[in-house]
Amino acid sequence: MIDDGEEVVERGKANLLVFESLTKKYGAITAVDNLNLKIGRSEFFGLLGPNGAGKTTTIRMLSTLTTPSSGSIYIDGLKIDRNLTGIKARIGVVPQHMNLEGEMTAWQNLELHGRLYGLKKEARQQRIEELLEFTELSDRAHDLARKLSGGMKRKLMIARALMHRPEILLMDEPTVGLDAAVRRKMWDLMKGLNKNGLTVLLTTHYIEEAEILCGRVGLMNGGKLVELDTPDNLIAKTGRFVLEYFENGETRSRFFASRQDAIQSAAGMEGGVNIRPANLEDTFITLTNRKVGG
Ligand SMILES: Nc1ncnc2c1ncn2[C@@H]1O[C@H](COP(=O)(O)OP(=O)(O)OP(=O)(O)O)[C@@H](O)[C@H]1O
Ligand SMILES: [Mg+2]
Repeated sequence: MIDDGEEVVERGKANLLVFESLTKKYGAITAVDNLNLKIGRSEFFGLLGPNGAGKTTTIRMLSTLTTPSSGSIYIDGLKIDRNLTGIKARIGVVPQHMNLEGEMTAWQNLELHGRLYGLKKEARQQRIEELLEFTELSDRAHDLARKLSGGMKRKLMIARALMHRPEILLMDEPTVGLDAAVRRKMWDLMKGLNKNGLTVLLTTHYIEEAEILCGRVGLMNGGKLVELDTPDNLIAKTGRFVLEYFENGETRSRFFASRQDAIQSAAGMEGGVNIRPANLEDTFITLTNRKVGG
């Protein structure tokens, strides 16, 4: 478990992003509930959690689209405020829902974003070419955004988020609905960006994606951060091996520290059993169920 933020939060350089007692209420719903979290420069951080956990609300507060009910967010020691355009320029956002200008071409979408962020004409042109190439969209540059495939639209949204060279990239379910091959290409794209120093905050329901990409993950549930660690440590926490068996019409799992322990436990069991290494998805499901008392 993480502590409840009693320690004094450092807002120095090492912690590029600091969330301090961050809370967002919508009427009776507390979408984000006293979130305390620090993310370091050049980290690849994953925010996981079931539907309605508060992930998008957290990202929306960070991207200044909505204001916290209480608490604060610091970027590089600077407190986020709706009017801080300087801070906005340091963040690139890939929102959960598609919001490209459908009646504009891929190029025009990037051009518009570049203008909004005050890029000069020549710089804009160069950056657009660079990003279209990077996202493998150069040959679709002059197609209307609405005519691109789902995967191409996602890539265009990433390109758009990168137009103004942000230090932090926020991606809210960027790979939803993509086929396996395109998703893997997106992973490489994200890895490459992070390797070049970009700090990445990603939300995803593809737990495998977080396991592969993220240095650390936070698990949210009911607006609260309930776990925070590296994927490997989280897996170790529930057990590195899983024993699966079918009972009363459902698949049940038991976790063990070693394969040997799992084999021993399975010894007297009837019917088909399966022993395999546990992954982050097993851990996620176990921890999520525990936290909601399921
Ligand atoms: N604009 C809003 N008005 C009212 N309630 C909201 C609003 N935005 C979010 N909520 C509520 O806040 C809670 C958290 O929603 P949020 O979108 O942050 O979850 P999420 O973790 O991103 O979920 P998902 O995985 O489904 O995208 C939900 O109960 C949601 O209904
Ligand atoms: Mg969401």
